Amino acid sequence: MFENLHEQPADKILQLMVAFREDPREDKIDLGVGVYRNAEGLTPVMRAIKAAERKWWEQETTKSYTALAGEPAFLDAMIGLVLGDAVPREAVAAAAAPGGTGAIRQGLELVQMASPGARVFVSNPTWPNHLSILAHLGIETVPYRYFDAETCAVDCAGMMEDLEGVRPGDVVLLHGCCHNPTGANLNLTQVEAVIELMNARGAVPMIDIAYQGFGDGLTADAQVTRAVAAGCPETVIAASCSKNFGIYRERTGILMAVSHDTGRRGVVQGNLAHLNRQNYSFPPDHGARMVTLVLTDPELRADWETELDEVREGMIALRMQLAEELKRLTGSDRFGFIAEHRGMFSRLGLAPEIVETLRRDRGIYMMGDSRINIAGLNRQTVPVLAKAIVAAGG
Ligand code: LMR
Repeated sequence: MFENLHEQPADKILQLMVAFREDPREDKIDLGVGVYRNAEGLTPVMRAIKAAERKWWEQETTKSYTALAGEPAFLDAMIGLVLGDAVPREAVAAAAAPGGTGAIRQGLELVQMASPGARVFVSNPTWPNHLSILAHLGIETVPYRYFDAETCAVDCAGMMEDLEGVRPGDVVLLHGCCHNPTGANLNLTQVEAVIELMNARGAVPMIDIAYQGFGDGLTADAQVTRAVAAGCPETVIAASCSKNFGIYRERTGILMAVSHDTGRRGVVQGNLAHLNRQNYSFPPDHGARMVTLVLTDPELRADWETELDEVREGMIALRMQLAEELKRLTGSDRFGFIAEHRGMFSRLGLAPEIVETLRRDRGIYMMGDSRINIAGLNRQTVPVLAKAIVAAGG
C-alpha cells in the first residue's frame, strides 16, 4: 500500500530551520522559526518553570493517567489567564491538548462535527500550518485580506469587505495577538467591527492565541480574545503555552469552546473529551502541570511574569533599534512599522530575491515572505541586518 503514498510538501518553516543548521558559516543569523532566543542566542528554561519542576519532582507520586480532558486545575488556570473574567466560567468547555497546534487541530475537528460544510476564513497571510491542517482535514478555506503590503499595517477595510462573504456557520480564524507572520495587529475598535459583522452574519470566531505576553503584556494581549468571547454567542479558542512559558517540546496547549448558552456546556465538554480520546487519548501532563504550578503559586507567578516582561521588553527594544538603524541608513521612515508591530514576528515587505540574497551572501535566514523572528537578533546583529538589507537593495 505504501506505493500509493506521495511526497508531502515540505513545511517551509521547518525546512529553513534545517538549512540554517547545515550552513557552516559562523556569523550566520537565524531569523526563521518562532522560538525565543535571548541575547546569547539561547532558549533558556524559564526560572519559574525550573523551580516548578524541582518542586514537582519532590511531590510527584504517580505517572498514572490524568483526566481525559486534562487536569481541571490546568484548565481553570489557563481559562483565567486567557479569558480573565470576560465570560462566566460556566460558559467555557475546555480540554488540554498537545501544544497550540494540537488545540487548533482539535478545534477544527470540533468545527467539522458541529458545522459540517463550514468554510474557514483565514487572514492572508496566516501561519502556514493553519492552511496545511485545514487542507488535511478537507475544510474549505477562504482567505481574507489582512496585510497591506505598502504600509505593512492591517488592511482593515479590505478585511471587512472580504468578511462580508461569510455565511451562517462559517468560521473566521483570528490571531489573538502578535499576528504570525506579519506582526501587524487589529486594535480593539477594529475587532469590535469584526464582532458586529460576524454576529450579523451568524459566523463563529475561532482564535489562535500563541504569543500571549509577547506583545504588549499578558492582559493587553488577551484583549481581543476576551472581547470576541464576550461579544459573540460562541467562540473557539486554541491557546499555546509553548512560547510564553518557554516549554515548546513539552507540547502544552488548551482548546476552549465558549458558549453563552450555558446549557450547552455539558455536551460541548463531552465532545472535547471525545475528540481527545479519538486522537491521542489522554493529553500530555508534564507541561500542563508546570503551567498550573506557576500560575497558582503567587511567588512563581510573580517571577514568571517578571521574566516574561523582560522577554517582551527585550523584543520591543530590538524592534526600536532595528527601525532606528534602518531609518538612519535609508534616510526614510519606510521601516517605521517594525517599531509598531508586536510579538515575535515582523514581515518586512522585502522582495523574495532580496531574501534569497541575504541568505546566500550574508547567511541571514528569514522566511521567504520576509518574516523575521525579532528574537533571533541581538544588539550587535541588528546593525548587521539593517546594513545587509540596505546593501541588498531592500
Ligand atoms: C513559527 O511560526 O515559526 C512557530 O509557530 C513555530 C512553528 O511550529 O511553526
